Amino acid sequence: MQDYVEIYEVGPRDGLQNETAIIPLARKVALIDLLSKVGFRRIEVASFVSPKWVPQMADSAAVMAAMTRAASVRYAALTPNLQGYAAAKAAGADEVAVFASASEGFSQANLNASIAESMERFAPVALAARSDAVPLRGYVSCVIDCPYDGATPPQAVAQTVAALRRFGCHEISLGDTLGQGRPEAVDAMLAAVLNEVPAQQLAGHFHDTNGRALGNIAVALARGLRVFDAAVGGLGGCPYAPGAAGNVATERVAAYLTAQGYVTGLDHAVLQQAAVTAQAMRGPLGAQE
Ligand code: HMG
Ligand code: MG
Repeated sequence: MQDYVEIYEVGPRDGLQNETAIIPLARKVALIDLLSKVGFRRIEVASFVSPKWVPQMADSAAVMAAMTRAASVRYAALTPNLQGYAAAKAAGADEVAVFASASEGFSQANLNASIAESMERFAPVALAARSDAVPLRGYVSCVIDCPYDGATPPQAVAQTVAALRRFGCHEISLGDTLGQGRPEAVDAMLAAVLNEVPAQQLAGHFHDTNGRALGNIAVALARGLRVFDAAVGGLGGCPYAPGAAGNVATERVAAYLTAQGYVTGLDHAVLQQAAVTAQAMRGPLGAQE
């Protein structure tokens, strides 16, 4: 039997959050509706964060109300605190995600909190998600390096991963937020993290600033990871990580995995159509009705 690898689509969230011109709701919904036909098991469509911090995601509840749900897809959303969780739950999120950092500098810039303070905010989210039986994902940012603190020690990543696991995160996504990781550094980071959490509970989240994301995915595959985050059309960046480029493009990851003999379950033709739609949403033209 061929090995299945899941691509967790983050374009409507990690991709679009970085666009400064506000994209009309109908265009976001059209992209999500197209992505729902590609064959993904999960699509991250929303982010219930402060609209002052990320204005592009302010219409998350409206997006989730307007999109057409496919029965086979779980629709996920970011939830930085209990207020965000309550909004995500009310909007019908099937899965929620808390997001921590392995570095203090990025934690402050992204969440206005130290790593320890961010964990205090996540604790009630984890409790609520468990009692509502909503699957909880965890993110760790800056697993290789941080725009504020420099190189991240692998042990710091392992500690944050272990803390998220204690909250009951069923999966923890390892973010190379700046997209500058080299395969050797990714391998060393994974060696430390795998001492804490098995590969089946990890996902790789590679931004592609220096074109090394596919090489980093290869290293992670060799370490046993079978879930990779990607954004259709290579959309994105992170508003609190200056210089970071988009996530690795879903269509490139899908083509790479297929060429390597893995099964992704994705329809490459519909995916290509979605990539064209996504690309047209970039920049000032993306904000037009
Ligand atoms: P804060 O200012 O410290 O929050 O921000 P606060 O608790 O003091 O509240 C201040 C105001 O925010 C209040 O409103 C709250 O109601 C409101 P006011 O009384 O001033 O009108 N507020 C909220 N509003 C809506 N939804 C909420 C919410 N919480 C408070 N959930 C906070 C703390 C966490 C809210 C803020 O720092 C924030 O929203 N940060 C999010 C930043 C973000 O979204 N970054 C991008 C996503 S992470 C990422 O992209 C990395 C990832 O892809 C992995 C990788 O690549 O590394 C996941
Ligand atoms: Mg990201």
